[in-house]
Order: sequence, then C-alpha cells, then structure tokens
Amino acid sequence: MNRVDFPTLALRAEVFPKTIADRTRKVYDRVSFIYPASTFFFHSNAHKYVMEESGIQDGSRVLEVACGSGEMFRRLVHKNRRGETIGVDISPNMAAKTQREARRDFPGQKTYCQAVDARALPFRDESFDSVVVCYLLELLGQDDVVSVLEELHRVLKPKCKLSLVLIGQNTELFNRAYRVAGSVAPAFWGRQVEQSVPGLIRDLDFRILKDRVLRQGFYPSRVLIAQK
Ligand SMILES: C[S@@+](CC[C@H](N)C(=O)[O-])C[C@H]1O[C@@H](n2cnc3c(N)ncnc32)[C@H](O)[C@@H]1O
Repeated sequence: MNRVDFPTLALRAEVFPKTIADRTRKVYDRVSFIYPASTFFFHSNAHKYVMEESGIQDGSRVLEVACGSGEMFRRLVHKNRRGETIGVDISPNMAAKTQREARRDFPGQKTYCQAVDARALPFRDESFDSVVVCYLLELLGQDDVVSVLEELHRVLKPKCKLSLVLIGQNTELFNRAYRVAGSVAPAFWGRQVEQSVPGLIRDLDFRILKDRVLRQGFYPSRVLIAQK
C-alpha cells in the first residue's frame, strides 16, 4: 500500500512532521491534570455512543489505546467487571492517572495501564476481544497512521471489533479553526484525518459495521465500528 495515495494525508504531508510522538508525549504529560475537562465537553457523547454500539461483553479482554486521562477507560472497566481491561498511552502522566483512578473506583478489578507508544504495542497477535481508540489518529505523523492501524489489526482477535473515534471533517468553519490550531500547536492538535480513515481500515480487511457522525456543541466526531 502506498501511503501517499490517501488524499488528506498526502495533502498535509509536507507541512506535518513525519513523526511527532516525542513532542506529543511531552505536551500531553503537561496537560494530564486538566484534560478531563476537554473530554467532558467534547468527547463524552462519542464515548457513550461507543459504549452502546461496540458490543463489548463483560468477561472479555479489552484494550484502549490512547486512554488519555481515563474517562473512556472507566466506562470500559465499569462494563467489563469480570474481564480484563488494559489501557495504554504514550504519556506516562496520562497512563498513571488513568491507572490510579480506575483502581480507586474499581478496586479488585483487573485493570492495567502502561505508558506505551501505539506504534509498537507490547501484546501478542490476536489477544484482544475489543479494541477502542478515541481521538488518536489525528496526532500521529504521516507514516504512523497506517503503522498504528496495522498494530490495532494485529492485536485484535478474528471477527472481533475495533471502535475508532475521529474528529469529524464535515463542518467547514470547524475545519478552518482546526487547521489554525494545528499549525500553532501540532503536537497537541495534530490534523484532521477522518476522511482518509475508512479507506485505510478497509484496506486492512476490516468491515465497517457502523459509521456515525455526532456533534457535541460545535465539536464534530465520527465513530466507526469495524469488524476484523
Ligand atoms: C486527544 S487525546 C484523547 C484522549 C482520550 N482517548 C479521549 O477520548 O479523551 C489523545 C491521547 O493520545 C495519546 N497519544 C498520542 N500519541 C500516541 C501514541 N503514539 N501512542 C499512544 N498514545 C498516544 C496522547 O498522550 C493523549 O493522551
């Protein structure tokens, strides 16, 4: 697969760094204590929708990649009381906060969070029943979007589901504001990639079962639920 065949990724390739992971880790480390506010105002509707539609079963093995400050992670742990829920985030402060609060709120449950880069997940092939990833792909460098999607595919068991949340690109005014924010602070905002992602995941032989655009205030999200 030629990565520059995807129009949105290719369009921004010259201005967006090839890899930005170190800067992203530092930025998200610094904002970990205030990040829950952003999740509450912009991400919680999409998180709720994923919980309704992803088909996550109690007693299963669930992975959240880029768990941030843990709001979605706690929803997953709450649903998966008898199972094992694992979270990873490149920011050690985010992973530590998520771990601490999940263990406080759900003592005795199997919850594990680690500081891990999504480009190299330290898990065996086909070892998860569900994988959830919200608002990560925007932050990845040009070459890393496909690498991370390949990793998600690798760790998911056959016939199991990937739930992916992206920042929507369906509102021109929002897109313009996002482009400005992304050029000022690329490691925090990244750039929108939503329109390229369905094609990329189909190329990996995922079948898209649900595709829904949501809004929370002015903030658009697109949720894809895909089966391996
Ligand atoms: C926009 S926040 C979203 C957090 C959370 N998923 C949510 O829905 O609110 C993006 C998160 O991705 C993490 N991240 C960025 N690049 C990553 C990478 N290469 N591997 C793992 N996590 C990464 C950041 O540290 C940050 O916590």
